[in-house]
Amino acid sequence: MKQLYLAANWKSNKTIAEAKAWVSAFSSRIQNIKVSSTVQIILYPSFTALDVVKKEIEHFRLPVQTGVQTISSFPSGAYTGEISASMVSGIASWVLIGHSERRSYFGETDDVLIKKVEQAKSENMNIMYCVGDEQSSVPLQVDVIAYEPVAAIGSGKAQNPEEAERFCRDIKAKYPGKPVLYGGSVTADNAGTFCSQASIDGVLVGKAGLDPEAFLRIYSAVSSL
Ligand code: PGA
Repeated sequence: MKQLYLAANWKSNKTIAEAKAWVSAFSSRIQNIKVSSTVQIILYPSFTALDVVKKEIEHFRLPVQTGVQTISSFPSGAYTGEISASMVSGIASWVLIGHSERRSYFGETDDVLIKKVEQAKSENMNIMYCVGDEQSSVPLQVDVIAYEPVAAIGSGKAQNPEEAERFCRDIKAKYPGKPVLYGGSVTADNAGTFCSQASIDGVLVGKAGLDPEAFLRIYSAVSSL
């Protein structure tokens, strides 16, 4: 049985109180879910909610890891407004690098992304690296690749799972041994089909991860495979 990953990227959402309430609601219902697969759950809250999310996960002893949605390309130092890898590596074991929103709205180029990868690795963080197609280059230090076709992100129109499988298979052939996730309008209705594909090792969820009930339904679908 393959190791599956289920990640939620909260993007620029949730106050500290809302983040805390999410974990509490999630914890009260997760026990009811029958788990038959190995699913690694990773939450990517905002920087502001990271500490409280981590503490709540520990408090409820949830099988969940935490990550950050981006990281500075610089080390700690005189870089006003930046969050360096060493500032968060104690509370986040994962970092998302190369999300299409970072590339398009914040102009993050491959040169910047490789610096982020180096910073994350200098702090031994696990890297989930996002690409929009099978042509994009992926730094070899990354741990997991997330294939997210831009048209599917936030549109409510997920890619056809068989088509996604072909892209993920090509990515896997280029980067053997790296788990490849699918992302883009994942819901409880399609998550199981994506994760059943031979070359897809899990899903990266945006919108449906904001609601604990919706995310639990995805977890239930994926963990029953
Ligand atoms: P979505 O976002 O699930 O809202 O499409 C996915 C992502 O951006 O990772």
